[in-house]
Amino acid sequence: MSQVASEHGTSRLRLVAGDNLPAMARLATEGVRVELAYLDPPFFTQRLHLRTVRHGRGGEATRSKVTAFDDRWPNFDAYLEVMEARIVAVRELLSDQGAMVLHVDPTSSHYLKVACDRIFGRDAFASEIVWRYRRWPARTRNFQRVHDVLLRYVKNPRLEPRFVQLYEPLAPSTVATWGQAKQLAAFGRDGRRVRSTRTDEASPGVPMGDVWEIGVIAPVARERTGYPTQKPAALLERIVASGTYPGDTVLDPYCGSGTTLAVAATLGRHAIGIDQSPEALRVTRERLAAAGRELVEESLATTG
Ligand SMILES: C[S@@+](CC[C@H](N)C(=O)[O-])C[C@H]1O[C@@H](n2cnc3c(N)ncnc32)[C@H](O)[C@@H]1O
Repeated sequence: MSQVASEHGTSRLRLVAGDNLPAMARLATEGVRVELAYLDPPFFTQRLHLRTVRHGRGGEATRSKVTAFDDRWPNFDAYLEVMEARIVAVRELLSDQGAMVLHVDPTSSHYLKVACDRIFGRDAFASEIVWRYRRWPARTRNFQRVHDVLLRYVKNPRLEPRFVQLYEPLAPSTVATWGQAKQLAAFGRDGRRVRSTRTDEASPGVPMGDVWEIGVIAPVARERTGYPTQKPAALLERIVASGTYPGDTVLDPYCGSGTTLAVAATLGRHAIGIDQSPEALRVTRERLAAAGRELVEESLATTG
C-alpha cells in the first residue's frame, strides 16, 4: 500500500467502491480497526441529488447534470432500518478507544439518537454537537433551518476516550477585563467562588463547546467540487483533530466527494472511504490527485 507524505507524517488512503454494509463486513474480516468513524449519510430528503458539471472555460463553458446519489425511500422505516444496520457495522470496526460521529439533520436526529443509544448503550453517548451555519434565507413561514446535528458515541465508555482538547477564542468581554492572560479560579475560605486571579501565562482560549459556527462552502470557494451535500473541510478538521492522533485511522463509509480523506491526509491520519456512487468515486479520485495524494482504490467485486 502506498505511503503519502503529508504535513504531519504519512497517510494511507483507501477508497472502496460499493455498498458500505458488505464493504464494512469485508474490512472486519481483514481485522481493520479505526479510531474514528464519521458518517454523513443521505438525510431522507426523498430527492435524487445531482451534480452540476462544467465543461470548458469562460464564455464557452457549458453545464450538464449527472446523478450523484439517490435519497428516495419507500418510507422512513425503510431508511431507519438501513441506517441501523450501518451503525452496527461501524461500531464493530471501532477500536476500544474509538468513537463514531453521525452527521444528521433535525428531521431524523431524534430517531437516530434512540437507535444509537440502543446499539452503543446510553452511557456511550458523548456529545450532541450543533453545527450552525449561515446561508441564503429560504422562503418559509418558519424559523430558518440553520443547523445540523452531529451525534458522537464512544465504543467503550469505561475507557479513557481519545479526545484532543480544542479551544475557541475568548469572549470579547473576557478579553476586555483580563486581556489574553490565563485566569485561575479562586475560592474564599467558605468555599465560594471569588474574583479569579490573572496568571502570566497566555490563555489557550475557552475549551470548545458543542455548538460550532462554521460557514457552508461558498459558491466560489476553491474547495468546492460541485458534489451535492459536500461538507466544509473546516468542519471535518475539527472532528478529525479532536477525535484522533496522528497515525490513527478514520473511516468514512459515506465518502461522497472525499472531504474526510482529504482532511485526514492533511492532518497525517490514515483514512478509508467507501461510496457506491461512481460520481462520488470520480470526484474523490480527482480531488485527492489534485492535492498530490495517492489513493489505493478497491472495489467490492475485486477485493479479497
Ligand atoms: C451526504 S453524501 C456525503 C457527502 C460527503 N460528506 C462530502 O463531504 O462530500 C452521502 C454519500 O453516501 C453515499 N451512499 C449512500 N448510501 C450508501 C451505501 N449504502 N453505501 C455506500 N455509499 C452510500 C452516496 O453515494 C453519497 O455520496
